[in-house]
Amino acid sequence: MIIKSIHLVNFRNHQEYHLDCDKETSLILGENGCGKTSVLEAIYILTRGKSFRATDPDIIKRGAEFYRIELNFVNGEQIAATYDGKTKNFTVVDKKTKRLPSKNKYPVILFLPSDLNLISHSPGRRREYFDRIFTQFNNKYSSSLSKYEKALKQRNELLKKEILNKDSLFSWNLLLSQYGVEIHKLRKEYIEEFNQKLTHIYQSIAKNKDDILIEYKSEANSLTTDTYLRKLEEDYQKDHYLGHTSFGIHHDDYLFYFNNKLANGSASRGETRSIILALKFTEATLLNEKLNQKPLILLDDVFSELDETRRRSLIDNFKNHQVIITSVESID
Ligand SMILES: Nc1ncnc2c1ncn2[C@@H]1O[C@H](COP(=O)(O)OP(=O)(O)OP(=O)(O)O)[C@@H](O)[C@H]1O
Ligand SMILES: [Mg+2]
Repeated sequence: MIIKSIHLVNFRNHQEYHLDCDKETSLILGENGCGKTSVLEAIYILTRGKSFRATDPDIIKRGAEFYRIELNFVNGEQIAATYDGKTKNFTVVDKKTKRLPSKNKYPVILFLPSDLNLISHSPGRRREYFDRIFTQFNNKYSSSLSKYEKALKQRNELLKKEILNKDSLFSWNLLLSQYGVEIHKLRKEYIEEFNQKLTHIYQSIAKNKDDILIEYKSEANSLTTDTYLRKLEEDYQKDHYLGHTSFGIHHDDYLFYFNNKLANGSASRGETRSIILALKFTEATLLNEKLNQKPLILLDDVFSELDETRRRSLIDNFKNHQVIITSVESID
């Protein structure tokens, strides 16, 4: 699937915007605040179903009554989305849907400047990062995660009530333990797959023998649905006191190791950048292996953050992919 053009109306600061991009690499050049990331955001909505940074009320151009975004592919197909301040609709080849159908989702590697700080970010940011990837690996991951999040929200609402009937938590405990164990199993499996490739890919970028490992840290290690459920039940008084669910996979974290030491604090700035590049290349390889599709590559203003060697490795690794780059300065 190759994108031929993008068209935006009333999307963020763009009243009307058009980009032809049927070349392998397209560059969106412009000063700060001119709307470059917004173009990638629109592409992301039309390939993944939702924005990576906001919800529609924030996205619609201030003062406008609707937005419309449109991707045209070289094979003649079109995917569009409209939002009128209340309702969002996708149109896929003349068929209207509320959500982007799974079969029309397309794998994307998104590279944001903030990803370069992934190793030192909060656990929540790392969970979000890996969820965005794993959701692309497997539809089941995506549906289990959204069911888990809904159940967690419901359970937390009950825990905030002054008077709590223990039995009212049961159905939520059941869902949390079922989906919690499922998500845990997939996260563990996927991180193992990352680890099988990461060091090798890192070494090809850094041209040395350093070793990279991601540790998947979870309270749910070796728990079954039953033992997970029991833990939630045991914790109910503490959770009621705290007003939220203290145990579960929503506290998971991913720690990066550099030569057997925590990378946060031991890897240099340049090494950290190479680790993140290796992570992106591993993502692309795994997506390709799992879905048999080459992901679309969206690079948001990351060139200015990288030295010449790392820029080169980014370009070399993603040749044969469709790449859309934003930048404030021109790139040679
Ligand atoms: N809903 C909205 N309506 C109108 N303008 C908006 C809306 N949301 C954001 N903006 C503005 O749109 C502009 C474009 O934002 P965007 O993040 O796409 O810029 P950018 O070119 O990527 O900037 P930078 O180079 O600083 O990353 C910003 O000035 C922002 O304040
Ligand atoms: Mg930007």
